[in-house]
Amino acid sequence: MSRAYNFSSGPAALPEPVLQRARDEMLDWGSARASVMEVSHRGKEFIALAEQAEQDLREILAIPAGYKVLFLQGGATQHFAQIPMNLAQGRASDYLVTGHWGEKAVKEAAPYTSVQVVANSADSKFMQLPPRAQWKLDPEAAYFHYTPNETIAGVEIHEVPDVGNVPVIADMSSTLLSRPIDVSQFGLIYAGAQKNIGPSGVVVLIVREDLLERCPKSIPNIFNYAAHAKEGSMLNTPPTFAWYLAGLNFQWIKSEGGLAAIGERNRIKAERLYGYIDGSGFYSNPVEIAARSWMNVPFRLPDEALDAAFLKESEAAGLLALKGHRSVGGMRASIYNAMPLAGVEALIEFMKDFAARKA
Ligand SMILES: Cc1ncc(COP(=O)(O)O)c(C=O)c1O
Repeated sequence: MSRAYNFSSGPAALPEPVLQRARDEMLDWGSARASVMEVSHRGKEFIALAEQAEQDLREILAIPAGYKVLFLQGGATQHFAQIPMNLAQGRASDYLVTGHWGEKAVKEAAPYTSVQVVANSADSKFMQLPPRAQWKLDPEAAYFHYTPNETIAGVEIHEVPDVGNVPVIADMSSTLLSRPIDVSQFGLIYAGAQKNIGPSGVVVLIVREDLLERCPKSIPNIFNYAAHAKEGSMLNTPPTFAWYLAGLNFQWIKSEGGLAAIGERNRIKAERLYGYIDGSGFYSNPVEIAARSWMNVPFRLPDEALDAAFLKESEAAGLLALKGHRSVGGMRASIYNAMPLAGVEALIEFMKDFAARKA
């Protein structure tokens, strides 16, 4: 078997037991006598799967009563637009911009709400967070939107911002399920699946029920969160295979000891990698230490001329997809839930060996 350690930022590695189970059930799923991809989403087998997946997610995240869980389509990008369509009610909305995805969210939201950028750390090339004292919050804003983990620069906001009574909306695409969170601090959480949830094609959205009262009847049903909630995310044909795989992943998280255990493992993985980088005298990470991401670890070599050799040799050593995003350059190791500590250790060993040869 040639399966390697995969550091892709997304679509990203999935836990092997999840893939193995999907493989085993591929032709003959449960009592369906067919693949999960070949049965009606309205049949009793799939309905049971959908209910189980939601129940498992509620358990893993300890989602309190009063929140709806939706399994939708469109990627996080579609929801950049759909959120203001549903929740802005013609009012202005606050956006904190700490990276590329926050910028994109602002652009897509602009046709549907008057966007107020609370603060923007573009000046630091998104390597530092905007100091809290400089944020310009509007207590009358329809909502406050931010990106807790910026996947490209590897910048994470580790505390949920306190913005008073304004509902907090978080694009958690690259951080949801990486550790426990307190869902009650949020009005709406959304995440494209293709990092810690499952394959691409499904978006998990957790929304406080009172906010659904804002969804205007004037928008098409297919964009309307309240309409999706009313139909149990089955307003139209959902991405059944992605939903199934997400469900298997939720079961895997439970079997690993839940998010407390997963979070502890993720903390150790990140600490190990940043610790090595900082002490190496060869590699560097430019992100403000308090804002470093647990999931996406960008790093640079002392000379860009070494990048091509690093990528070629790491791939040959079974360490995939380490190339940094084109806007940042250098390398990036994405170490989501499915990356074991052994994978991070293998990367560090390779980095040590490479540095010893090229220093
Ligand atoms: C934080 C974040 N938000 C949004 C997106 C866009 O997601 P999608 O391609 O599913 O629309 C990404 C993609 O990597 C992301 O990392």
